[in-house]
Amino acid sequence: MKPDEVRQVVRERYGKFAESAGHAEDSCCTKSAIKACCAHEQAIYSEPELSSVPEIARNLSRGCGNPTGFANLQPGEAVVDLGCGGGIDMILAARKVGAGGKVYGVDFTLPMIEQAQQAVAQANLPNRSVEFRHAPLENTTLPDACADVAISNCVINLCPDKNAVYREAFRILKPGGRLAISDIMLTGPIDAALRERLEASWAGCTGGAIPEGEYWDTLKNAGFSEINIVARHLLSDPELDGMACCPGKEYTPAPAADDLNGVQGKVVSVKFTAIK
Ligand SMILES: C[S@@+](CC[C@H](N)C(=O)[O-])C[C@H]1O[C@@H](n2cnc3c(N)ncnc32)[C@H](O)[C@@H]1O
Repeated sequence: MKPDEVRQVVRERYGKFAESAGHAEDSCCTKSAIKACCAHEQAIYSEPELSSVPEIARNLSRGCGNPTGFANLQPGEAVVDLGCGGGIDMILAARKVGAGGKVYGVDFTLPMIEQAQQAVAQANLPNRSVEFRHAPLENTTLPDACADVAISNCVINLCPDKNAVYREAFRILKPGGRLAISDIMLTGPIDAALRERLEASWAGCTGGAIPEGEYWDTLKNAGFSEINIVARHLLSDPELDGMACCPGKEYTPAPAADDLNGVQGKVVSVKFTAIK
């Protein structure tokens, strides 16, 4: 698929998913982020974190980690959430940076932004500064050096031009600013024909995943240094099954069983930080 076709498919699938938010319990992804398609079998958010966000943000949560849990956010900091989805990490970030801080959410799927706006409005965040950008991560429309921290949760694997995304993240961070990212990668290269077939399920978080080595080169080429792997988890077979059809089987058809077998034991969920 060409990059623009990939973006179109991803936007359509996440758009339909966002529009279903009112009856998300009918989807494959049950009541909360704990059992979300993209989550690990174990919970990725604590119970107090989950109970502090509105139901709409919990239902739309499709992360593979908890970036605000390792971003070391400080009161007064400005944070950008790259691919904010239904807003769960924005809300958690807004609580940490407080009234003197700022949170931007960027997503190219309009229904997702609309749901996230509603979630933020319901989240009881008095005096918080929260702004949205309906834009692609390759061109967020944010000003240069506007953020101390860029977080992202299970999004950059979906982007066909990861170099452009990380160049843009570098541009919007202040000097010394940091990344705190949770993403999906491959342990190494896979057969080219298999990779092409998996791309058909690009919205699922395996279609666009690249090998770890290539991923770190992308970060370094954009100018980032001090890459620090906070956690690395090899997906189990059931986790891979869920991940491959994110945000849900009714939006992203599951890859053929043989193709999924071909990447079993080769897909990792990685949490890392890096510095501009
Ligand atoms: C798997 S969901 C994760 C959402 C959120 N981070 C979370 O943890 O729930 C991926 C989100 O990234 C957005 N997205 C994917 N590719 C994008 C791109 N190139 N530019 C902007 N948003 C993108 C989708 O619209 C979707 O809302």
